[in-house]
Formats: sequence, structure tokens, C-alpha cells
Amino acid sequence: MPALKVSDEQIEKVSNVLLDVDRPLKERFRALFTLKNIGSDKCIDEIAKGFKDSSALLKHELAYCLGQMQNQKALPLLVSVLEDDNQEPIVRHEAGEAIGAIGSQDAIALIRKYARHSLPEIAETCQLALDRIDWIHNHGSDEGYQGDNPYQSVDPAPPMKGDDIDQLVETLLNEEETLFKRYRAMFALRNMSTPESIKGLCKGFSATSALFRHEIAFVLGQIADPVSTKSLITVLQKTEEHGMVRHECAEALGAIATPECLEVLEKYRKDNERVVRESCDIALDMCEYENSDQFQYADALGKTGDE
Ligand SMILES: [Fe+2]
Ligand SMILES: [Fe+2]
Repeated sequence: MPALKVSDEQIEKVSNVLLDVDRPLKERFRALFTLKNIGSDKCIDEIAKGFKDSSALLKHELAYCLGQMQNQKALPLLVSVLEDDNQEPIVRHEAGEAIGAIGSQDAIALIRKYARHSLPEIAETCQLALDRIDWIHNHGSDEGYQGDNPYQSVDPAPPMKGDDIDQLVETLLNEEETLFKRYRAMFALRNMSTPESIKGLCKGFSATSALFRHEIAFVLGQIADPVSTKSLITVLQKTEEHGMVRHECAEALGAIATPECLEVLEKYRKDNERVVRESCDIALDMCEYENSDQFQYADALGKTGDE
């Protein structure tokens, strides 16, 4: 995707919002999405400055955006975040995933090492990243890799071919299969986005891997269909569930944005876990956006850059 032409001064203005700890998190997120959409090298330098923040939620989103931008320039930074024991696991996981999204073979030795990490969310992410890089390089190029992904995201695995929902759900739930293959089934079911395929995806919350469960919640957020509301609420309510999973459920509910979702999000805005509280805040901001045409989440420049 070609980078938008924006002056350095405008980028710095947006970056000032991103890095301002006194601003509400939702404004900082909007600034981040703006930088991601501009997409230039300068934006990567500005996003990099955010990794000193105290919010794991914000930092994991920085890493996510860097991966989605697929700019090799971000690779050394993402490597340093993955290697940093002082960063929260959710942030290191997202850095590992972003390295996989960039897809460079230069990263193979490093992520192979982290695929044996003691924290499962880091180890599993790096194994997936290895499989993704391997897949890309054995299938010619990244071109066509998206399959028929209507969501424009760079995913950790390509969708599996075939439209037999029962078979895809079987692969999705098969604990004997590699995560890569199960993710492939997940993305195929997501791309279908029918009530049946969504119900199949919801069954994925029974998986043993927290990373897998968080990805289920993530794709349900992309689909944003009320069919998954009940399952997402059930998982968000489980205080013993991994924060990474509950966070993703909260954001998915924000994308669905029905009054029922809003009510639950208001409640968990006071959760004990910071990453959940903050996710509810961001999700409520998304609800507001879904229900009005006031702010373009995908294009915050007009609002943030021209004041
Ligand atoms: Fe993630
Ligand atoms: Fe996330």
C-alpha cells in the first residue's frame, strides 16, 4: 500500500498525541491508527517511542500496527521488544506476531529460539511466525497469501481452502493438529462469516491454548456479528481467564456495539486487571464510533492533524 503524503510536522503533531500520557487512551489509540495509515518510515520512528509507556495495551497495539504495516524497517525494533524481559508477555507476543507478519527470512534464527520460550504465548506465537514465513517462502510470494480475506488484515496463517464447515470446525478443535493448521481453519471460518461458521468459531473458546482463544476472540471482533455476543460475554466474565483473551473479548464486544455489549463493557471498565479495564475503555470508544459517524477510526488525520 503506498504511503500517504503527509509532512513531518503533521506526523509529529499526531505523534505528540500518541506519546502524551496525560491524554485519554482512546485519543492515543486514534493517533496510533493515524500513524499506521500514513505508513511512512517516519511513522515507524514515532511509533517506536511509545514502547516506554506503562500501558501494556497501548504497547501491544503499537507492535500490532508495526506488523500490519509490513515495513522491514521496523524489524530491529520488534526484535528488541520480543527479547526484552521487562516488556509484558502480551507485548512480546505481539512483537513476535509482527515479525511473522513482516515475513522476512532474516528473522528465522531468532524466532526459532523464541519458539522454545518458557511462556506459552511467546513460544506459540513464534512457532506460528516460523510456519508463516516458511509457508510464504514455499508458495512464491506474499501475493495471493490473503486468500479471500475481506478484512484486509495480515493474518498469522492463510485461510484453509474448502467450505465444509463441519470439517473446518473439526480441524479448528483438533488439539493434535499444529496451531498453524488450526489457525488456517479459523481464518477460513472467519472469511465465511455465516451464523454457522461463527458458531463453530465460538467453540474454539474451549481450546487449551490461551493464544488460540485470544485469536478466536480477535476474529470474532473482525466479524462483529451479534451471533457471538453471548460467547464473548461469557469469556470476558471469567476472571480466571488469561487477560489477553479477556482483552480481545472486550474489544470484540466494542466492535459488535449493541446495547447489550455496551452494558457489559461499562461493568468491566472497573475490572481488577488493567489490560481488561483499558480494553473496555477503548471498546466503548469503538461503540460510540460504530453508532455515530463522528469519527473515522481508519482516518483520524483530519481530526488530529489539522487542529
Ligand atoms: Fe495478539
Ligand atoms: Fe490484542
